[in-house]
Amino acid sequence: MKSKSVLFIAAILLISCNKDVIVENDFEILDDNDIVKLANSNASLSSLERLGKAIYFDPRFSEPIYRQSCSSCHSPNNGWVGFGAGPRSRGGGRGAIAGIPEGAVFGKYGGRASPSAAYATFSPVFRLEKGTGDDEFIGGLFWDGRATGRRVPGNPAAEQALGPLVSPSEQNHANPLQVLNKIITSESYLTLWSNAFGTRTIPTATALEIEKSYQRVGIAISAYEGSLEVNQFSSKYDAYLRKEVELTPLEKKGLELFNSDAKCFRCHTSESVAGRPVIFSDFKYYNLGIPKNLQNPRYWTDPNFVDLGLGGYLKNQTINLGWREAANKNYGKFKTPTLRNVGKANNRRFMHNGAFKTLEEVVHFYNTRDDSDFRNFWPSPEYGENIQNGWMGNLGLTPYQESAVVAFMKTLSDGFNNPTQRIL
Ligand code: HEC
Ligand code: HEC
Repeated sequence: MKSKSVLFIAAILLISCNKDVIVENDFEILDDNDIVKLANSNASLSSLERLGKAIYFDPRFSEPIYRQSCSSCHSPNNGWVGFGAGPRSRGGGRGAIAGIPEGAVFGKYGGRASPSAAYATFSPVFRLEKGTGDDEFIGGLFWDGRATGRRVPGNPAAEQALGPLVSPSEQNHANPLQVLNKIITSESYLTLWSNAFGTRTIPTATALEIEKSYQRVGIAISAYEGSLEVNQFSSKYDAYLRKEVELTPLEKKGLELFNSDAKCFRCHTSESVAGRPVIFSDFKYYNLGIPKNLQNPRYWTDPNFVDLGLGGYLKNQTINLGWREAANKNYGKFKTPTLRNVGKANNRRFMHNGAFKTLEEVVHFYNTRDDSDFRNFWPSPEYGENIQNGWMGNLGLTPYQESAVVAFMKTLSDGFNNPTQRIL
């Protein structure tokens, strides 16, 4: 059962003839030694980042164990989105249907596609921004912003990481204590923990102690997610900005269009604000009128399901009762995702519900959603109110211009300077 090596070759099997259903092969199991080796494989990581990295890749942090880890749904080999190679699944691969990932329990699906775990730490604390025009929500993590940065003060990414470990449609631990006990009973993890936090003691006597200790798990994972190993800024576009490489004429055209007629930059912010790195997101929320993904397994149990996005969260949250009044205006809105690595993954889908299969389709949608020639081409939106009308819908791009925008997005994949760079 013990693995000789932690390097694996991607083995994605396409089962049946349906390319929308992907299942992975079994992978070898990681033991404590392997996980320590993995955590220490990059000398430039801090002790805190190493602890987070170990947990991020360790498939024993699922119930049943060896079913999945964070990397199952956010694999570095796949641009930190969706499925790719990695030491994570056993006893029957975990799969995804039409871009919607399966949890540790067979047949459990959350109903949303995985966004990128890379560059996620740049999203600020969730807040209502009072402006001159419409008040807008900004920041937070998850498609609907519900990891706000309140539970773990100032750190939405640490807060986010606490969710999947105990979610029944993800890693499926019964409670935070079950997660902590896996650390407490492992000598290797206690060493990683003590290097990170300066103590081998992990208090769990009271509910508050469990919460504080569990928050440290999230803090370690988010430290790893914020590290240069995850947020590499190593794409062709970054090299181009440093004047190390030229873009092709098509890519250059795409860049120009992205920042002008295609209007992508309006939401996928492409200039540095206040010296911060460019993530290609404004961290705000919009309803683009994305159609349903009819293959979403969520419909198996809930045929009338409509994902209300940000508004759905606002309506039910208890942090700020005033925000509930803003729910109506925000139904159907989802957070602008980063575009870094968006062209990297195979077998992935796009948008919160995985409705689109290719970047070509995405750009065609922005270009033609409201074009009368396409009135019957695009299915109706998943949620028909609060639809974004500015900046998209009828851009008047030619097919050549659409392909240029796609070519530009493909320059945003990390690993350009060192394509063989490995995490594992
Ligand atoms: C079963 C697949 C699955 C597993 C396992 C999983 N995630 Fe996710 N992750 C998702 C999905 C789906 C979403 C979007 C959910 C939503 O918005 O409600 C998400 C959202 C996120 C986000 C938010 C990104 C953003 O821009 O808002 C981050 C960061 C993230 N996951 C990191 C992690 C970490 C860290 C772990 C392990 C502790 C993990 N995920 C485990 C599927 C998974
Ligand atoms: C009005 C703001 C806005 C504009 C303009 C905009 N986007 Fe987006 N983009 C979003 C939001 C919001 C999402 C997620 C929507 C959802 O899932 O419902 C998104 C999603 C995407 C995705 C899918 C990413 C993923 O991880 O699934 C791609 C690719 C994309 N946009 C590219 C573009 C390009 C190219 C343009 C210009 C042609 C553009 N966007 C213009 C806000 C915008």
